[in-house]
Amino acid sequence: MHDLTLALCISLHEDHMTTLQLLERLEAALSPKSAQQPLDTGDMAVRNLLTDVASVLKAEVTSHFAFEEENLFPRFSEELQSFVPEMLLGEHEIIRPLANQTIDLARQALEEGFDAQSWAAFREAGLELAEREVFHVQKEEMGFLPGLEQILDEDESTRLNVAYLQAKG
Ligand SMILES: [Fe+2]
Ligand SMILES: [Fe+2]
Repeated sequence: MHDLTLALCISLHEDHMTTLQLLERLEAALSPKSAQQPLDTGDMAVRNLLTDVASVLKAEVTSHFAFEEENLFPRFSEELQSFVPEMLLGEHEIIRPLANQTIDLARQALEEGFDAQSWAAFREAGLELAEREVFHVQKEEMGFLPGLEQILDEDESTRLNVAYLQAKG
């Protein structure tokens, strides 16, 4: 994806890269050899990871997802076809509760640390989330953003990008 030219598509792409980098760090921390060994939440690097998990995932499944659903999926359906947006929306609906669960467990661990049970729950939710979200982002990068580039003209892209950056706060 080096040929995006519209401001809105570049913003969405940057969010996707931030999310993928975070998920890569999360998956590395949840490797199979970690199964019997909960992360030490006294370790600063672990605290940074859990803090980033909570903030990056929250932004992804609130403002980023909502903007795609409200402004972009309907537009894409109108101009191209509805199959892709319907599939992406279905994925959002599965990913959103998984992300919220992962965020809650990360925040809880920042306060209380992990025990065997909360660690198993965090690993399970985090690994499933990472797998689904990576696949979702890849689909948007391969099919959805290039489609949007065909649909939007520069003015509409700029207008939507301003609205998007405002929605992100
Ligand atoms: Fe999405
Ligand atoms: Fe996205």
